[in-house]
Amino acid sequence: MCNTIKEILNQKTRLINKHLVVKGWVKHKRTNKLQTFVIINDGSTINNLQIIIDKEYKDINLGIYLKIKGLIVLSQGKQQPIELLAQKIKIYGLFKSKDFQQTILQPKQHSYNKLREQSYLRFRTNFFSSIMRIRHNVSYLIHQYFHTNGFYYIHTPIITNSDAEGSSNLFKVTTFNDLNDDFFGENAYLTVSGQMHAEAAALGLRKIYTFGPTFRAEKSNTPRHLAEFWMVEPEIAFFNLTNNMFLAEDLIKYIIKNIIILSQSDLESLDKQNLIFHNLKQILNKEFKRIPYSKVIQILIKNGYDMKWGQDINYEHEKFLVDIYFKSPIIIFNYPIDIKPFYMRKNKDQQTVAAMDIIFPHVGEIIGGSQREERYKILLSQIKYFKLNRTRLEWYLKTRIFSTVPHSGFGLGFDRLIQFITHMKNIKDVIPFPRSIKKIYT
Ligand code: 4AD
Ligand code: MG
Repeated sequence: MCNTIKEILNQKTRLINKHLVVKGWVKHKRTNKLQTFVIINDGSTINNLQIIIDKEYKDINLGIYLKIKGLIVLSQGKQQPIELLAQKIKIYGLFKSKDFQQTILQPKQHSYNKLREQSYLRFRTNFFSSIMRIRHNVSYLIHQYFHTNGFYYIHTPIITNSDAEGSSNLFKVTTFNDLNDDFFGENAYLTVSGQMHAEAAALGLRKIYTFGPTFRAEKSNTPRHLAEFWMVEPEIAFFNLTNNMFLAEDLIKYIIKNIIILSQSDLESLDKQNLIFHNLKQILNKEFKRIPYSKVIQILIKNGYDMKWGQDINYEHEKFLVDIYFKSPIIIFNYPIDIKPFYMRKNKDQQTVAAMDIIFPHVGEIIGGSQREERYKILLSQIKYFKLNRTRLEWYLKTRIFSTVPHSGFGLGFDRLIQFITHMKNIKDVIPFPRSIKKIYT
């Protein structure tokens, strides 16, 4: 029999007196002339298994991978219910302990910066393996939420020829410098959002979502920005902005309610300052306050911020609104046309669009979405107003020609959600291999 440590520990004392093969790497070692105590982990869980070897074993260094055959017995110590009495040991790969000391595997406090520099080893640290398991569980919950609510998962393309957000933060995809020789024979980019293709899908399948990598060459080097990040984008036909707000709040609360249970031990292990569970439960207890943009501007002006109607709301404003003024997550809606993309639905006032941003504590904007402009003529006039390349958007315009329907959707920043849940300072520490301005971490 061969099991992961998670599977073994889950069976508690039922395995006592059974022979097992266990594999993992050494996290801790203590030895005397008679016995060697080795703590191993295999990444399947934050919890470890203690191995007892009835002799002094010098070759077993920290970090080494082992295969151990032995007998499960009731533990003498209080730390764990069971342990393994080793009978046969295989060492997978020796290395010099001098080399080991240069790595982040050396059991001492390392800065997050240093950990990032060795991102290929980060998975073997306690904090990062916890984050990766949480990241997995959140992905799982997202798929579960949508599946049980009748949404279909659509894979939208990663290579596109249009700029969905009109933000010109595009990474170009090319095989040659000369366009005529180039693979696609036209400009191609890494997608900034799956939204436009998601809209086409929703107009045929009614309720869909995409969940994939998106790319932005944003110059902002902040603890909340990545050049490659993951976005969850539901898109729904026959859906207005109010429906959209309900869906977004329900999705986030579903994830948070369930991750508390599903990732309990990993969250506990990360929760050094007793903040995480508190923060998560706070979100569940509160309605997300809905405030129109114009009201937000009034509040900011009244509170001493030098603001004018039409200006964008930045992270400093977001912090004030969420942490101090409202003390809850907020949904800001109906933004001025000029600070939002062309595809958002124009409101009757002709000055604002049916946009919504959800602002969270700690990470700021976690969701951006809108009701889409489904009326052909107005959409076309918006494309002209923003001086966008109409040829590239012709296919998108056509989705409004053969009948048309109000539809809405949003993008949830997956990495920002993980950052919020784990309360990590930097978003680079919640994604396996971060990419950011001037830096590709392996
Ligand atoms: O607000 P954004 O730009 O919205 C869109 O792209 C829409 N097309 C989505 C839609 O309606 N289907 O991005 C959505 C979210 C943001 O609220 C933020 O959480 C996250 O994506 N995000 C980033 N996360 C990490 N690094 C970056 N550089 C990010 N840019 C946006
Ligand atoms: Mg946004």
